[in-house]
Amino acid sequence: MTESKFFTVAKEAALEAGAILKEHLDTDFKVYKKGIVNLVTEVDLKAEKAILERIHRSFPDHQILSEEKGSVAGIAGDAGFCWVIDPLDGTTNYAHRYPIFCVSIALEHQDKTMLGIVYNPVSGEMFTAERGKGAFLNGERIQVSAASSLIESLLCTGFSYERDKVRANLDLFNKACMTAQAVRRDGSAALDLCYIACGRFDGFWELTLHPWDVAAGKLIIEEAGGCVTDLRGGPCTHYEPAIVASNGRIHSAIVDLVA
Ligand code: IPD
Ligand code: CA
Ligand code: CA
Repeated sequence: MTESKFFTVAKEAALEAGAILKEHLDTDFKVYKKGIVNLVTEVDLKAEKAILERIHRSFPDHQILSEEKGSVAGIAGDAGFCWVIDPLDGTTNYAHRYPIFCVSIALEHQDKTMLGIVYNPVSGEMFTAERGKGAFLNGERIQVSAASSLIESLLCTGFSYERDKVRANLDLFNKACMTAQAVRRDGSAALDLCYIACGRFDGFWELTLHPWDVAAGKLIIEEAGGCVTDLRGGPCTHYEPAIVASNGRIHSAIVDLVA
């Protein structure tokens, strides 16, 4: 099956940004503070610039929503497409040279996510999905796990950078630790979602996400047979900050847990 130009450009952009992240990982890059513990590095900005330039070059009439730049209009109009980008998901990990981080790129058209790519340049793992065509890890088809109860499930979550919002999730984290087989907090929501898609994790929840954290990973999970909902188990888009994601089989159990 020939891939779309959208998919080719997205993959090239993810590879280029990933190479920038990898190349600078062991250098003395600058780290800035957006909040007391919310970091951005000069490498986030370099990777973002490379992605934006590549997309503008190929699709000058597409809009872009990217974490550091915000919303950028198409430079030649508006064809109704919007790229949703996190140039570096897992910045705190990156700043500590903890190799769990990725580039996340999704393309949205008429309120639907058309494709998603999540790439960790250290492991060399690229998770991809195009709507209706399944989910893949380095070109091999992936699917969610078969776990059917929390006691046999490895769950994952993440915490807000805003300290006053941490406590609410600590309560859920406590509950999950007492109910699931184990719970992880790995620091890159986009990778957390992809790990559900390929069956490493069985479920995930987080309360304060952004569209660029979720857009690609959500499609990848759905195309791998799993689901992503709001906290009540209802349908949601990647603009919903509080989500539950799972293999589907344990979904209602996580929804009950976080209720
Ligand atoms: C963060 C990571 C983290 C999640 C935070 C996100 P960033 O993104 O995905 O796992 O818990 O909510 O903001 O800042 O590293 O791009
Ligand atoms: Ca992020
Ligand atoms: Ca980021």
